[in-house]
Amino acid sequence: MLGRLNHVAIAVPNIAAAAEIYRSTFAMGAKVSAAVPQPDHGVTTVFVELANTKIELLEPLGENSPIANFLKKNPAGGIHHVCYEVEDIMAARDQMLAQGATITGTGQPKIGAHGKPVIFMHPKDFNGTLIELEQV
Ligand code: CO
Repeated sequence: MLGRLNHVAIAVPNIAAAAEIYRSTFAMGAKVSAAVPQPDHGVTTVFVELANTKIELLEPLGENSPIANFLKKNPAGGIHHVCYEVEDIMAARDQMLAQGATITGTGQPKIGAHGKPVIFMHPKDFNGTLIELEQV
């Protein structure tokens, strides 16, 4: 069964400026993490913790960042993916494949930015939205 919404990821050209929006512009305040470079994933991340979910701000890091093309198409930034929780990533993957969905990359789960196994589902099967499934 598809679980909770774990996070919504927003690609941003400048993560310090983006984090400041969540610290200051939303004057009611939000819990905003420090920026963490994740060279293995080609991004720097900031997490904004909300009561029911998280916002993951992503800034490209390094030469071959997986979000570089997205930012070329969307220079001001934009919603990059949504992440849903699943209990068993392999079972989820097999069910999705059986339904004809496409998994990006090798099709094997990778350890994601939060240290948990993730897969990404191709946006063409999901109304143009990149879907991350994370085992929790
Ligand atoms: Co994510």
